[in-house]
Amino acid sequence: VPDISLTNQRAHLQQFQNIASANGGNRRSTSAGYTASVNYVYDRLVAAGYTVARQNCTSGCTSGAGPNVIADWPGGDPNSVYMFGAHLDGVSAGPGINDNASGSATLLEIALTLAASNPTMGSHVRFAFWTDEEQGLNGSEFYANTLPSAERAKIRAYFNFDMIASTNGGYFINRISSAAGQTLKAYYDGIGVPTEENTEGAGRSDDASFNTIGVQTSGVAAGASRVKTAAQVTKWGGTQTGFDPCYHRACDTYPSNISSTVLDRAGDAAAYALWTLATGTPATAV
Ligand code: PHE
Ligand code: CA
Ligand code: ZN
Ligand code: ZN
Ligand code: ZN
Repeated sequence: VPDISLTNQRAHLQQFQNIASANGGNRRSTSAGYTASVNYVYDRLVAAGYTVARQNCTSGCTSGAGPNVIADWPGGDPNSVYMFGAHLDGVSAGPGINDNASGSATLLEIALTLAASNPTMGSHVRFAFWTDEEQGLNGSEFYANTLPSAERAKIRAYFNFDMIASTNGGYFINRISSAAGQTLKAYYDGIGVPTEENTEGAGRSDDASFNTIGVQTSGVAAGASRVKTAAQVTKWGGTQTGFDPCYHRACDTYPSNISSTVLDRAGDAAAYALWTLATGTPATAV
């Protein structure tokens, strides 16, 4: 499993910050900052060899919301698909760096690393950058609800990345007891970092759209506005304050509102899951 470059994750974060700064300070789904964010990931994925689509959200999204970006890495068993997703939009209050340039930057860097290393693919891998999450998980809901049932059945798991570099962060895994969750947990176990169920984020990000259609999900999160407990400070360090003091605020900026350690581990955990599940031996046909 390759190491996901923290330097490159941070370079993408700087680009998202620059995009917000040049476009009125935010990357809300209906904004010029969102369009620029779409173009940034789209262009890099195409250049790396992905099959990339801008999927317009034609129902359920906020009026004027930009598209989802869906990127398929060619190859692997088309009947065995692993999806990895993050919302690309932010709230209007600020540039949306931990929420959720952190997930978007990491997803992009994992995709670019997969393309560069070009391993034998057992399963097919698809990356999704969602629009209009902040107004109600709308981009992912549109994707899930319009996906033909035959395509749904091919998805073995969906992994979500939302707020993965909180400055006073914790190590949370969505649906940690699922097979998908145990794969992510195995990475953190291997580096001696304890993990917990993501109770704060349950039902509040795009994995919920896949749970609704019966796809197994997991994901990584580092915490939002909830306050870190004394027990969590003991095992993870930090302070008994909010996991992200800038949650949905103007101060959700780069570089001040990013923990490099938490970000680095999340990227490497996601890569561990992707390489473990989707590369190498061809998957058993479903
Ligand atoms: N979906 C939430 C958001 O984007 C993310 C979140 C994660 C909220 C964890 C609460 C807890 O704002
Ligand atoms: Ca790394
Ligand atoms: Zn979010
Ligand atoms: Zn948010
Ligand atoms: Zn590392």
